[in-house]
Amino acid sequence: MMSDRVRVDQTEQWRALRQHHRELGEPPLRELFASDPDRGRRYALEVGDLYIDYSRHLITDETLRLLHALAEARGVAELRDAMFRGEKINVTEGRAVLHLALRSPRDTRIEVDGENVVPAVHAVLDKMAAFAERVRSGEWKGFTGKPIRTVVNIGIGGSDLGPKMAYEALKPFTDRSIQARFVSNVDGADLHENIRDLDPAETLFIVSSKTFTTVETITNATSARRWLLSELGDESAVAHHFVAVSTNAEQVAKFGIDTANMFEFWDWVGGRYSVDSAIGLSLMIAIGPERFREFLDGFHLIDEHFRTAPPERNVPLLLGLLGIWYDDFHDAQTHAVLPYSHYLSRFTDYLQQLDMESNGKSVTREGEPVSWETGPIVWGTPGTNGQHAYYQLLHQGTKLVPADLIGFARPVEELGELADQHDLLIANLFAQGQALAFGKTAEEVAAEGIPAAQVPHRTFPGNRPTTTILADSLTPSVLGQLIALYEQKVFVQGAIWDINSYDQWGVELGKALAKRLEPQLTAATADTSDLDGSTAALVERYRALRGR
Ligand code: F6P
Repeated sequence: MMSDRVRVDQTEQWRALRQHHRELGEPPLRELFASDPDRGRRYALEVGDLYIDYSRHLITDETLRLLHALAEARGVAELRDAMFRGEKINVTEGRAVLHLALRSPRDTRIEVDGENVVPAVHAVLDKMAAFAERVRSGEWKGFTGKPIRTVVNIGIGGSDLGPKMAYEALKPFTDRSIQARFVSNVDGADLHENIRDLDPAETLFIVSSKTFTTVETITNATSARRWLLSELGDESAVAHHFVAVSTNAEQVAKFGIDTANMFEFWDWVGGRYSVDSAIGLSLMIAIGPERFREFLDGFHLIDEHFRTAPPERNVPLLLGLLGIWYDDFHDAQTHAVLPYSHYLSRFTDYLQQLDMESNGKSVTREGEPVSWETGPIVWGTPGTNGQHAYYQLLHQGTKLVPADLIGFARPVEELGELADQHDLLIANLFAQGQALAFGKTAEEVAAEGIPAAQVPHRTFPGNRPTTTILADSLTPSVLGQLIALYEQKVFVQGAIWDINSYDQWGVELGKALAKRLEPQLTAATADTSDLDGSTAALVERYRALRGR
């Protein structure tokens, strides 16, 4: 069915941006700064604890005006308000998109099908807090009466990446006497390496799965249960060592976990938006309920900013629009996120799912093929490591890679003397932004006495755009702010591209094929005649290698 909504690339605002791009080309950042000495301050915004410098982008005031006109014409604000009202904007699954309700204050009212969902959110948060305190204090005992020393979260995708990333990010805020581990991969090596040195009597498994049908998670949870029983030898040990986080009480009960030990969430929370739901239970046990509340407050601060700030000061809107400028008008294929914080070492992995599972789509909300670029490939690792690996390409390669540089003014206190290294870390962050933006001309290289033959090799073209995000320190609230910033940026882009950012049908085919193939790998004899030639040959080779 054809929609009567004008396709985004047919709008006058899109055409105006195309025309503007043709005229502007890639304006030299050196010149933009020379002609506007105030640009560094003028193209900067603050929200909550975050300072955002977007002056090193290939834009002018006119670019911003045209991008905002596009957002207005495409109804970004209207869709945002519909999301906040609890309307079912996830059209292909008929669901509301309400991760923002997970961090709403108790007195907020957000309705889904006429029912206020906020009281249920807080009831679960309270239940989580009570449980987390019992584990942290040692009141919750394992089967043999020992307190819990290790919490193992078993989950994958959104039921793994969020708590794993946040646990790493907030390590200095964790109770160091209880460690958290994360098992996701169906490769048995993941579970093996994570439990081989553990005492089951001191281990708590949190089986985290929105659907509780995800094969990796159920397989790992079943193996973990077997391990626990083989060590503790009594079925009734399970209740002391297994809890579940899910939307699916029926499957949880079927697995053998008492639903009294289940922490609920809802179908209006997408997996990749669930770190601040009960999926964050392992994190809450690690940092405590109070810090977890601060984490949620950070998200809420950005939600409120996104909902109420005028377009020209709306940071998620701005970041979304800048991404569209590069994706759709400069043909940039990727977006690098480069945190200058070792604690954020898993942040980019987390954002990969958030962004790529949300906006890696090629049909519109009405099901028509898009004729414009949608979500970028998101990648990156913490600075300064990347500088000694792939930054070469960022500086001198042929590809345009817009990047976010993220840093914190204050090192964490427990680093002690090692905190002295922090200035060097931040000097690198600032230097990279500088080098990427302004490069080094052939004249400048030659003036250093470099032999002529080497000058081209040592020249840096510059004009590589970056956003710098700077905060005082990496606290639970700041982490919440950062995540929400990217969540809402992804929303903005999905709204403009007219795609549904909240389904993920693209993961289904591989799952179904794997289910069909597994018996062909394991059966006594296999009929591969129904397979394509490549897969048939691989299956046969695998079977031969395994002696089947
Ligand atoms: O297969 C993709 C996916 O559905 C993700 O969207 C989700 O985060 C992950 O699998 C895990 O799903 P579940 O929490 O239901 O186990």
